[in-house]
Amino acid sequence: MISKKIVILGTGGTIAGLSGEQGDNVGYKAAQVGVDQLVTHLALGNACVLHTEQVAQIDSKDMVFSVWQALVQRIHHWVTNEHVDGVVITHGTDTLEETAYFLHCVVQTQIPIVFACAMRPASSLSPDGPQNMRDAVALACHPGVTGVSVVCAGRIHAAGDVQKLYPYRVDAFSSGDAGVLGYIEEGRVRQCRPWQMPLNIDGCEWVERTPSDDWPYVEIITSYAGCTGAVVDALMALEPRARPRGLVVAATGNGTVHASLIAALDRAVALGVQVVISSRCALGTLVPGGGESPVKARIALVLKLLAWAAPR
Ligand code: SIN
Repeated sequence: MISKKIVILGTGGTIAGLSGEQGDNVGYKAAQVGVDQLVTHLALGNACVLHTEQVAQIDSKDMVFSVWQALVQRIHHWVTNEHVDGVVITHGTDTLEETAYFLHCVVQTQIPIVFACAMRPASSLSPDGPQNMRDAVALACHPGVTGVSVVCAGRIHAAGDVQKLYPYRVDAFSSGDAGVLGYIEEGRVRQCRPWQMPLNIDGCEWVERTPSDDWPYVEIITSYAGCTGAVVDALMALEPRARPRGLVVAATGNGTVHASLIAALDRAVALGVQVVISSRCALGTLVPGGGESPVKARIALVLKLLAWAAPR
């Protein structure tokens, strides 16, 4: 049997977390254990050869564009220079859906990119990270898998659909109405629907070429009872270079926005700011038109503005 070559890129998260007390699954510090340590007891046999690389070591609530850019660069390197068969990324659950969606938009490879995560720290009496890692590697080795996916608690989610719905449950993610891509059971993949192809959107080459400090600033604004336009007006009062270039509105219901906020958004549009409407409803999409959750819509707008700003 020919072994598959898989690279594990570590970024931190609870999967690499440690707590002072073994039984404590809440009061821990994320991003403490190196990715080389996380793979030591996976007992994967000869089916694959693992390489590890620590790309970042952070609690994913602190995710920044520079880590996303580094991930794109390292994936590019491993795929083109080292000819790996798959990439597994260890990541905190809190912003996992954002990083996964970002890579779904920009990666230009057909090989599987699989996120592994955990809701309990590595020091837990009963950690979920090792099983999630084993499952993620099994998926990355599975023939025919493509695109960016997330493995958690035996379920495989597509990057375009996944979102964290539960702050504490071990099975923290949902793919909403789309449903999971499949399941991993005792290392075997049971596929339920086609793998999601990477979007490879226009202008994605600028992600590697533009310093991450220069990526467009896009803010998320929520519409709610008693909302005013004060936050938008305050942002527009900033000097032009510090102002957001885009605003994503986490609108109520099917994309409705408080009248006071609409007035402020009109003033922002008059200043050249791009506005995208999304819904703050956790599940379902806007009708008609669909669209992403506010955090994913923000990524799409960042990338669109990045492509617009690129030299022709
Ligand atoms: C994080 O997102 O880095 C911490 C929380 C988690 O991984 O569950």
